[in-house]
Parts: sequence; C-alpha cells; structure tokens
Amino acid sequence: MGEPVHRELIGRLAAARRPVVFSGAGLSAESGIPTFRGRVDHALWSRHDPQQLASIEGFERAPELVLEWYDWRRGLVVEATPNSAHVALARWQQATLITQNVDDLQERAGADPDRVLHLHGSIMQDRCHATCGWSMPADPDSPRGWHPCPECGARTRPGVVWFGEGLPEETWALATRACSNADLILVIGTSGVVQPAASLVELAAASGAYVVNVNPEATPLDSMADTCLHSAAGEVLPELLPD
Ligand code: OAD
Repeated sequence: MGEPVHRELIGRLAAARRPVVFSGAGLSAESGIPTFRGRVDHALWSRHDPQQLASIEGFERAPELVLEWYDWRRGLVVEATPNSAHVALARWQQATLITQNVDDLQERAGADPDRVLHLHGSIMQDRCHATCGWSMPADPDSPRGWHPCPECGARTRPGVVWFGEGLPEETWALATRACSNADLILVIGTSGVVQPAASLVELAAASGAYVVNVNPEATPLDSMADTCLHSAAGEVLPELLPD
C-alpha cells in the first residue's frame, strides 16, 4: 500500500457520513481469539466439526460436548483484552459496528453497546433452547454442564446463532437498514463465506457505498472492494482511524 492511497483512505473514512463496519473473527485474532477459517493451522473449523459444535442436531446429540466447547471459548474471551483495532473502531462514533463475532471485545474497547450489532449472538449470554425467551448474562463461575431453564425447564445453551438457525430479527433489520443507507463499508477480518451475513457487503455496495476490505488473505469479498488492504486489522486500523 503506497502512502497516497493511505492518505486518501484516511480522508474518506473521516468524511463518511453513514459508515458501517462489518467485522468477522479476524478482528479479534490479535486478541488471541482463534478464527474459524484461514491459513493458520489453529483455525477452529480445521480442528473441530461445525456440524457437531455449532448446530441444533449436534447440541441435541451431545449437549455436554457442545457446552464444554463453548465454556472453553468463553474462557478465552474472558481472558482476552481488546486490541488496537477494537479501540480504533470504538472511537469512530458515527459508525454502526456490525459484527459476526460473539465476543464482547468491541464493547469492552469502549464502543456504545447500542452501536454494536451482533448478527451471530453473544457467547457472554445464555438462553433457553426452547422458545420461552429466557436469556441471561452467562456466569463464567457457574458449574459446567447444562442447566434447566429457570422459566420453563428446557435446556439452556449459549446465546449464539448456530448453522441452520435464523439471525436475531431486530438485529438483522437494523443491519440491513444501516447497509442500505451506508456511504462507506469497512469490512474487517471476515472470510465472507457465511450467509446471510456476508450478503450485507453486497447490499451496501449495491446501495452505492464505497467498500474497503481489510484482511491479510485474499477473500471472495476482494472482487467487491474499491480498496483492499492485505494487512492485519490491529496494524492498519489505528492508522486509518487516527485519534
Ligand atoms: P473466519 O474465521 O471465516 O475468517 C476470518 C478471517 O479473518 C480470515 O479471512 C482471515 O484471513 C482473517 N484474519 C486473520 N487474522 C486477521 C487479522 N489480524 N486482521 C484481519 N483479518 C484477519 O471468520 P468469519 O468470517 O467471522 O459463525 O466467520 C463467519 C462465521 O463463520 C462466524 O461468525 C461463525 C463461523 O462459523 C457461526 O458460528 C454461526
């Protein structure tokens, strides 16, 4: 990336009136949270079966295994600290921060929770696996294993979206509205292969938004981007969004 491109981009980001950020696991990679895919050998889906660990069928077949895996991942999040990309984004007050991430690092970096749209739910919440609607902040100190829902007695589970499940309706409505109105979308750290989330980039582009993609690796989203920065988020975001 040459200096003039960088300078021009900083100006574009500062001038954007309705910017949207669309992030994925790569945003939290530099905080030590493993990604699902990518060239790294510790990518989660290269070591674990998503159908077992992130689907209703997998949970109903082996709930203890699934809950143990989410306990492990929740522990990683609790131990992690926000990185410089989270901090830079938290400062960008006018941006809507749409994320596929289930961690709370963006909020812990100081972003107003109302500005953060978690398309795939939150690992820091537990909820009822049935339809009673019970949900509570997860207690990292509570005994492992599954607990009956205090409202209806069904199983409780992590408040994340699994493969085959719908996205939270209100969050999705807010995200599609923000992308339809966006004048710029900054895509960060996503492989762009999980739908419907990834279609938000197409929606923003089709609505006239300038598309920036930050990812050390090439992804299918590169072809949609006006500018691609093949860099780590924590390196480039503080430069793009200076204090
Ligand atoms: P992926 O794990 O699919 O992709 C992470 C991307 O981050 C890869 O393209 C990496 O190249 C990139 N990356 C790695 N380190 C980075 C860094 N320091 N800075 C910037 N980018 C970096 O993650 P997602 O696209 O978020 O869904 O995955 C989408 C969904 O698939 C997840 O929300 C999850 C998963 O299955 C569910 O669990 C429902």
